[in-house]
Amino acid sequence: AGNRTFTMIKPDAVRAGNIGGILAMMNDAGFRIVSMKLTKLSAEKAGEFYEVHKERPFYGELVEFMSSGPIVAAILEKDNAVEDFRKLIGATNPAEAAPGTIRAKYATSIGENAVHGADSDENAAREGSFHFAATEMF
Ligand code: CMP
Repeated sequence: AGNRTFTMIKPDAVRAGNIGGILAMMNDAGFRIVSMKLTKLSAEKAGEFYEVHKERPFYGELVEFMSSGPIVAAILEKDNAVEDFRKLIGATNPAEAAPGTIRAKYATSIGENAVHGADSDENAAREGSFHFAATEMF
């Protein structure tokens, strides 16, 4: 049991061949897979997913990058999932990501930072439903 978070392995990490390494870190940290798929966001869908960042200067770049290649989308379950997952991935800027975190190991820049993690229970639910139907949550 436990509660849920939502993650994406971003196009940079998929291109670099890091899906397996990243999933192993999630598994070793105690996250159970509820839903998972390899998919690709259109620019329109990426824009919709990141709508909360629409006014930010990096929005265009973010949408272009997130639609530049396949991603792995997943819902994960663990006690205290959102907070514990954000600890596991580390800071947005890989230069500030703590040693042992996914971004410390795999991210290359603030934009191309290997993984996404939902920042609240509410967003985790919204983002999970954006990618998966209830029949795809196990
Ligand atoms: P993510 O957690 O997926 O949610 C918003 C994303 O915006 C964030 O990861 C970063 O990859 C991206 N982002 C944040 N700040 C910048 C920035 N200054 N330049 C480019 N991308 C950014």
